[in-house]
Amino acid sequence: MDYFEYRDGKLFCEDVPVKAIAKKVGTPFYLYSYATFARHFSVFDGAFSQMPHIVCYSLKANPNGALLKIIAKSSGGADIVSGGELFRALNAGIPADKIVYSGVGKSSEELRYAIESGIRMINIESEGEFKTLKKLSRKMKRKVPVSIRVNPEIDPKTHPYITTGLKKNKFGILWEDAARIYREMSSEEYLAPVGISSHIGSQILELDPFIEAVTSLKKMILELRGYGIGVEMLDIGGGLGITYKDELPPDPKDYAKVVNESLGNIGITLILEPGRVIVGNSGIFITKMLYVKQTAGKTFYIVDGAMNDLVRPSLYNAYHDIIPVEQKKRKTKVVDLVGPICESGDFLAKDRELAGLKEGELVAVKSTGAYGYAMSSNYNSRRRVAEVLVRGDQFFVVRKRETFKDLVRGEKTPSFLEAEIK
Ligand code: LLP
Repeated sequence: MDYFEYRDGKLFCEDVPVKAIAKKVGTPFYLYSYATFARHFSVFDGAFSQMPHIVCYSLKANPNGALLKIIAKSSGGADIVSGGELFRALNAGIPADKIVYSGVGKSSEELRYAIESGIRMINIESEGEFKTLKKLSRKMKRKVPVSIRVNPEIDPKTHPYITTGLKKNKFGILWEDAARIYREMSSEEYLAPVGISSHIGSQILELDPFIEAVTSLKKMILELRGYGIGVEMLDIGGGLGITYKDELPPDPKDYAKVVNESLGNIGITLILEPGRVIVGNSGIFITKMLYVKQTAGKTFYIVDGAMNDLVRPSLYNAYHDIIPVEQKKRKTKVVDLVGPICESGDFLAKDRELAGLKEGELVAVKSTGAYGYAMSSNYNSRRRVAEVLVRGDQFFVVRKRETFKDLVRGEKTPSFLEAEIK
């Protein structure tokens, strides 16, 4: 079931024509489908129903508060990587005991905030972090549930920028060191080694890397039990891929099945941190054609959305399908779809065969729910765009487009300049 479909040649999100939303909120904007998001979450969650588990939605993919409230309402948890994400998760009503915290560089302020909030588990990623946590827990006299994010040294065969489980990556701790830290931890009064975690990468399209990871994590759990350290939680991270073009990602049910089989019945609560698979195809990005620019041998479609709004094509050379909001018979054309930013790297598609488009027309950039708005910036002093959520035949602006005043909020003129200007 696709909730972004043409009806009589007009692109709809659920029961709302995209054009009507654009008319009301202007362009560019991100558009999310409630039904898609809620269904993706429940399918993923349901796939693991055979096992005790918590689905901790990875906020970094898309932290919009309305989406987080849908997660909270569906009894989901959160995977966070910063104090800001912890704030957002709690603010949306996600219970602290369903929040897990990963990340290579947590500051002591952030760790303190997490301890005070009573989150489920802190996944430590270095010896230094272990020491900081040791000090903090003693000082605060609060028992802290900890897991070590181990580096399982697995190649998930995805884009090098989003591979995380290789020896050369900055993430996690190698097993020899982790085993020693676990033993040191068990003699700490205020640290409870309750779990083990890993995350091998993102946009993974095969099950084998997950099978390898879970198999090796199981061995580690059994070894820890041998030392009398009885971890109760296994966090296998996120990473399940989605279809952008013609990829055939595993079905969540098959993913759950291989995890279950590789793990066997070892009496553990599974924690999952999916991001992209929940929200990626729940969102599209709507932008307007400004100009068709013809140069020697090249056609540029210049749109009002840019790399500051959606950086994935520029950063990873990522492919996103691009379709007109109004479907009609058109000749195709090979073009670069580019934004107004002053960089040659500012493109949403390169040398792409697209439907011929005219100035003023609306275009949808698909599969942009994950790492779209979340990675946007104000580069070139462009205002961050609006986000809209559709449910049935209604739409809701879930984040307003920024104003020019928003751009300078927080800036201050130093007094010497104030004086000189007057
Ligand atoms: N857990 C941890 C510890 C992570 O580092 C990540 C993603 C996730 C969970 C969620 O992974 P997912 O299920 O979404 O694959 N900006 C890149 C993706 C970076 C992913 C970073 N970590 C992109 O646009 O493709």
